Amino acid sequence: MSDFTSEFWSWFIIAIVGGGIVWLFYLLRGNDKVPGEPGVPTGHVWDENLQEFNNPLPRWWSIMFYITIFFAIGYLILYPGMGSYKGLLGWTEVGEYEQEVAAAEEKYGPIFAQFEQTAIPELAKDPAAMKAGERLFVTYCAVCHGSDARGAPGFPNLRDGDWLYGGAPEQIEATILHGRNGVMPAWEAPLGGEAGVNMVATYVMSLSGREVDEKLAAEGKVKFDMFCVACHLEGGKGNQALGAPNLSDNIWLYGGSPRTIKETIAKGRSGRMPAHNEFLGTAKSHILAAYIYSLSQD
Ligand code: HEC
Ligand code: HEC
Repeated sequence: MSDFTSEFWSWFIIAIVGGGIVWLFYLLRGNDKVPGEPGVPTGHVWDENLQEFNNPLPRWWSIMFYITIFFAIGYLILYPGMGSYKGLLGWTEVGEYEQEVAAAEEKYGPIFAQFEQTAIPELAKDPAAMKAGERLFVTYCAVCHGSDARGAPGFPNLRDGDWLYGGAPEQIEATILHGRNGVMPAWEAPLGGEAGVNMVATYVMSLSGREVDEKLAAEGKVKFDMFCVACHLEGGKGNQALGAPNLSDNIWLYGGSPRTIKETIAKGRSGRMPAHNEFLGTAKSHILAAYIYSLSQD
């Protein structure tokens, strides 16, 4: 926004807020004193005998309104509320947030630092650390992996002991710190269109022991050995260095229906696990790694 427009909107808000207060004050004053004689019927009648009298507001009632007006004025002087005016106290939402973060840091910093010194397999047995890990997981990871860590299509299940990138403590920690990006290219064109995709998909399905058309699967294997083994290895055993999933274990990242498998092969996939290093820091990432490690141990 240009200076002029932000200035304009600031004054616009000030006019509404300030004008609103002045107007309410005026309205209240008008109701404190009534024109003419108090206690006289105005002549308005409803439901045959319900009459309106010319009375001012009860004193206590209008005093309450005056108090709210003075409170509002005091508030608007001390706190931001009038356009871009920042308020005498210099309070900001960001400032309050930063204060809370600093307080939490002071409280948990030393505990987390101690957790960080502990090796993951040992930390995974520490109930206090795992409680902290669970809380961190629900806050930072559950949006994608689900609060029970069982994942969803495209987001791996972290409890099943089946790993795209490896389940050793260092591998899990590296995944969290640096993120991962699985790149599965689109194969529709290289495979010669739908028929080719169908052949390879049939072979892929045969790898996890499904009943398939043997002849089609054999044709698919030829193409698989040409295009896919580089990443998925012989027999589709997978390669954790690339995050190329094992295709023979009947555990599917994107779903194992024939339609989904064909779609994966034809269009490709690119799952991205964000890096958490800068965002969470090493201590929290370490606790999370131990938490994830513990999940796959039961
Ligand atoms: C924005 C969504 C998103 C968030 C947030 C997220 N993840 Fe992930 N995570 C993914 C995706 C997608 C993958 C799979 C990447 C791929 O397909 O190559 C993944 C993969 C992983 C893996 C590797 C699993 C394996 O089989 O090797 C681990 C471990 C993991 N995430 C842990 C976490 C933790 C811990 C957090 C919280 C700090 C987290 N993730 C937050 C999306 C997310
Ligand atoms: C460049 C390496 C590479 C090649 C070549 C490759 N893939 Fe993949 N494939 C991957 C990666 C990495 C993933 C995981 C994608 C993700 O994490 O989003 C994947 C995922 C898949 C999946 C999804 C598995 C699941 O659990 O949902 C299937 C099916 C698949 N590939 C089949 C094939 C077939 C068939 C070919 C050959 C036509 C092939 N891939 C070639 C790297 C590759």
